[in-house]
Amino acid sequence: MSRAARSRSMGGVTLKDGTTAVLRPIRPEDEPELSALYARLSPETVYRRFFSVMARLPPSWAHILANVDYERRMAIVAVSPDNRLIAVARYDLNDSGNEAEIAIVVQDQWQGKGLGTMLLAELLNYAEAKGIRRFRAHLLTENRRMLDMLGRLAEVLEHHDERGVTSLLLIPRPRANPEDP
Ligand SMILES: CC(C)(COP(=O)(O)OP(=O)(O)OC[C@H]1O[C@@H](n2cnc3c(N)ncnc32)[C@H](O)[C@@H]1OP(=O)(O)O)[C@@H](O)C(=O)NCCC(=O)NCCS
Repeated sequence: MSRAARSRSMGGVTLKDGTTAVLRPIRPEDEPELSALYARLSPETVYRRFFSVMARLPPSWAHILANVDYERRMAIVAVSPDNRLIAVARYDLNDSGNEAEIAIVVQDQWQGKGLGTMLLAELLNYAEAKGIRRFRAHLLTENRRMLDMLGRLAEVLEHHDERGVTSLLLIPRPRANPEDP
């Protein structure tokens, strides 16, 4: 399968309920909307993403998260038809360049529609095109949804549980795009 075919979902996507969203790389101008997205998330979703709940996303974090170099640090966002950010998936390559940590969040009302799977598949495809093959994910051990999603998109090479947090080392399965037959 060609890279172009595997990257075809960047742009408009149709979700399971027929609604649409646009997937695109994050931009520095997204910083305020990133903070607004955080404010729209339920405490449970914030906790699953950040392992802590803060009253708001610290501005310095929003700045860092919105400004990536598109190589070693990358984020892909999903935008709703009314132009709000509704999901973000990102990777951050480690210093030795052999492993990238991934993280994802989908706004509660948009969960369960296939968006997380599409976004993560897109991120893995993008990273693979940059030569990144191994990924690290940290998630709450009770986060079955994320665990299952990762298991469908990637092969788990290592699985380590400690104090309620699971760390996984992953390599994407050959077909990371859920739209593929
Ligand atoms: C984990 C997360 C990213 C998944 O995103 P999503 O858009 O809901 O994922 P999808 O719609 O692609 O669904 C993936 C699977 O989760 C399950 N699922 C999703 N939403 C569900 C819901 N509301 N109820 C029950 N099951 C659900 C389904 O089994 C689905 O599999 P399917 O394809 O067989 O239907 C999202 O739930 C989220 O943002 N969680 C909080 C942050 C987080 O946990 N991040 C991970 C650590 S970085």
